[in-house]
Amino acid sequence: MPTSRLAFDEFEEHYATRLESLRRSAVRDLFAAISRPGVIGLSGGMPDISSLPLDEVAECAKRAILDEGLKALQYGGSDGRVEMRQTVCDLVSDFDINVDPDEVFITAGSQQALDFIGRVFINPGDHIIVEGPSYLGALQAFSAYEPTFEVVELDEEGMRMDLLEAKLAELGRGVAKFIYTIPNFQNPAGVTMSLERRKRLLELSHEWDVPVIEDDPYGRLRFEGEPVPCMRSMDDSVIYLGTVSKTLAPGLRIAWMITPKPLIAKLNLCLQGAGLCVSAYNQVFCEHYFHDVDWRSVLDKTVVKYRERRDAMIAALEEFFPPEAKWTHPEGGFFLWIELPPYFDTEQMLATALESGVAYVPGTNCYPDGRGRSAMRVNFSYETPENIREAIHRLADAIDERMELYRAMLSAGVLAENPLEG
Ligand SMILES: Cc1ncc(COP(=O)(O)O)c(C=O)c1O
Repeated sequence: MPTSRLAFDEFEEHYATRLESLRRSAVRDLFAAISRPGVIGLSGGMPDISSLPLDEVAECAKRAILDEGLKALQYGGSDGRVEMRQTVCDLVSDFDINVDPDEVFITAGSQQALDFIGRVFINPGDHIIVEGPSYLGALQAFSAYEPTFEVVELDEEGMRMDLLEAKLAELGRGVAKFIYTIPNFQNPAGVTMSLERRKRLLELSHEWDVPVIEDDPYGRLRFEGEPVPCMRSMDDSVIYLGTVSKTLAPGLRIAWMITPKPLIAKLNLCLQGAGLCVSAYNQVFCEHYFHDVDWRSVLDKTVVKYRERRDAMIAALEEFFPPEAKWTHPEGGFFLWIELPPYFDTEQMLATALESGVAYVPGTNCYPDGRGRSAMRVNFSYETPENIREAIHRLADAIDERMELYRAMLSAGVLAENPLEG
């Protein structure tokens, strides 16, 4: 094929306009970069699954076939196996969420659940409320349905309720389609919403007639402090999302939504059009894993590793980063959020960082509106403490280099104002 044909897209005129509003995933884009030798990846959100007991995992895989026979390899119902839904009921009872299997809907990952939420609720132009910053995969999933994103900033205690209330009042009762929040060890900020704010969020949701979506992939990954109750345990109208991705393994693509029953019928329609059903085999495997394996002890070991890695990252930040930088102190989860002085552009700096062998997610990816330019998301769940220290050292060098550049431009008169004092 002549090379010019490679660049020419013969379908250019045929694509739907909706593609224009689709966001790229920085994490997926950086996948190739971080697989280069010598690059330390702080950009992804991968769990460390090395503590999984492989013999027992293999036994679950075998039992899935021996116990269920060919049923495990057949098409299944669109709302998921009743046994898997019962397993979910057992799992979430740990969080004082008491539901029946018919309030549970199984999806191929929470990412699919987010897509279905967009499909079910968003008409083009509809207002939806997200935290600032928010999970880039949710922004990507929702953006396909062309909403108007309303961003409510968070702080160390989660989404700011004063700003949320002002936003709801500005929009009017029932106008926003939903409020999307990740209350535990938020992705990307690492912060946890306080109990007081959770209660206030529920009050506001009823007062202004806007449903709450509580996305909770990290809730079991607390390594210090006291757990805070889920909003779904306080209020049945909350749509709650959980997944096996961070507590078992993401390759299984098994997750769940707990929702009021009428929504389940709508989700069924979505799944019928988007995959027919979720892999029965993977569901049976998960049922066995959560019934037969001492998975809590496995997870405990992993959580200890996450704490060591978080500690290694914070120690390295304190040692190497300039005093102008600020970062969050997550009590669990995978990420922390770093804010550099406002004149920094972390998108521009990414090329330098990649050259020096470290990848992160520039903050703009975690906002729908260009905010977050001087911030970055870094992951501590996957790399060893030694690699984390080395990566933060390299990042600090890249930051110092930028600061030097600003100083040089200033003294050469290229910059009129001193950004270092701005
Ligand atoms: C907040 C949040 N929601 C959903 C997901 C997607 O999870 P899953 O692997 O179940 O699709 C992630 C993955 O990183 C996440 O951080």
